[in-house]
Amino acid sequence: MRVGVLTETQPGERRVALTPETVKNLVSHGFTVAVQSGAGDAASFQDQSYRDVGADVLPSAQAVADAADILVRVSGPWDKDGVAPVWGKPGSMFLSFLMPQTNPGVVDSLVKHQITGFSMDLIPRITRAQRMDALSAMSTIAGYKASLLAASRLPKFFPLLMTAAGTVPPARVLVIGAGVAGLQAIATCKRLGATVEAFDVRPAVKEQVESLGAKFVSMDIVLDDAQDASGYAKEVSGDTHAKELDLIASRLARNDVVITTALIPGKPAPVLITREMVGRMPRGGVIVDLAAPNGGNCEATVPGEEVVADGVTVCGPLHLLSEMAHDSSMMYSKNVAEFLMNLAPEGQLKLDMEDQIIRDTMVTHEGRIVHEPTRLLMQKEAGS
Ligand code: NAI
Repeated sequence: MRVGVLTETQPGERRVALTPETVKNLVSHGFTVAVQSGAGDAASFQDQSYRDVGADVLPSAQAVADAADILVRVSGPWDKDGVAPVWGKPGSMFLSFLMPQTNPGVVDSLVKHQITGFSMDLIPRITRAQRMDALSAMSTIAGYKASLLAASRLPKFFPLLMTAAGTVPPARVLVIGAGVAGLQAIATCKRLGATVEAFDVRPAVKEQVESLGAKFVSMDIVLDDAQDASGYAKEVSGDTHAKELDLIASRLARNDVVITTALIPGKPAPVLITREMVGRMPRGGVIVDLAAPNGGNCEATVPGEEVVADGVTVCGPLHLLSEMAHDSSMMYSKNVAEFLMNLAPEGQLKLDMEDQIIRDTMVTHEGRIVHEPTRLLMQKEAGS
């Protein structure tokens, strides 16, 4: 199978879909790889490093698309400077974080160009697919980087310091949502010396929070049926949501930093800190809202910006992963390579529709939308 690596076109994106290390691995497993010249530059991978491991470096996206059976990207594709993206040949394949349910235009284009599209955000969270779980890999980075962002914006130390000028108490951090990003945020803030507490609606995470040395906040509104069969949180509504807001409000005054990561798959992020609640934090406090790409867990969040509300710095970062472009590319690239080796063992395409990983991640095939939730959503939107 011939794999093509394209330069990212989304503004602010610095990652690359395959690094030289994983290209080497793919080549040794029977794949050939073509890379668009400069694709790895922003993540510090030079053209020569790709050539050294056996890739062809080609001058344009079109040349790569013409040469490839499957094109791989991190996100998109997106128009750049008003120029439409390059698509592969009819019958070829495409792989990226397509986020199909929020990118109907991309899905339409895949159908129109007769391309089989796979989406890395649809990798099932099953044991066999763990090495391909790019969402978890990226959330690990986001949780780590969110903690560093909070530490750099807080006008206080994170650790306890005993100095000749007196004793400085440790910063206090509240993490809301203890999934992949939240657990990494807890671990990172603990390593930096802060006192950390965390809250989640899923009771299953209490043990994990405590194993990282953080306190799990109040059990009384944690719901036994808070998660679905695949382990994801269900939406919290009505009375319970109001109780949750009261609980969070009661914790804000005692914390210098809040890192929010609450996510319900396929839904806008739940609002867990209202505009009024922000003022309950100490002045100089910091909120890092990792849910900013999905609208934010805090009402004061402006996605992509840092704003000050009632003396509290509210960060809504959108490009944390690109700020760690080297390691986020390394991790994503390994996830992609694992996916490709499952799709084409020893470089030979085996489109096994019995394989849950292939079935769940396939969005379009033979000119049709085959991902049912996306198809239904687009049908509904077309009808309304
Ligand atoms: P996850 O699904 O592993 O964790 C989300 C957690 O939120 C779950 O533990 C869930 O139980 C909890 N949760 C849901 N509703 C809640 C509520 N009402 N109250 C308290 N907890 C609640 O998701 P993951 O992978 O940790 O991602 C977290 C967030 O980080 C997502 O919003 C994702 O989009 C975001 N992210 C942001 C990036 C950025 O650059 N800003 C980069 C990567 C991820």
